[in-house]
Amino acid sequence: MSEIGYSKKVLDHFMNPRNVGALENPDGYGKVGNPVCGDLMEMFIKVKEEKIDEITFRTFGCTAAIATSSMTTEMAKGKTLDEAVKITRKDVADTLGGLPPQKMHCSNLAADALHLAIEDYRQRAEK
Ligand code: FES
Repeated sequence: MSEIGYSKKVLDHFMNPRNVGALENPDGYGKVGNPVCGDLMEMFIKVKEEKIDEITFRTFGCTAAIATSSMTTEMAKGKTLDEAVKITRKDVADTLGGLPPQKMHCSNLAADALHLAIEDYRQRAEK
């Protein structure tokens, strides 16, 4: 853990975030705001045969928000929608080697945005 309580993995994903940016014509899109701090998160997915084929994010958030989003995209990529929808903020935080308790609220953004993107895809598929 660093002085402020971030694990090495958190700092790695913050310094070198994976899958950053917007996807053109995504199959699913999720956007959430964090009521605690006002930060924003967007998640974009492309789906092939009910699996997450591509996933990217954009965020206006803190270190923890960036690291959890980056890790969430890594965890969700290649998973079926049913598997990906079960990824929780705790799974993400655990995989990152933990988050300082005062930063746990930041990890809501990534998991919630992923779930919304999947919901959006499913709603579009029903039409
Ligand atoms: Fe806003 Fe972390 S302080 S997402």
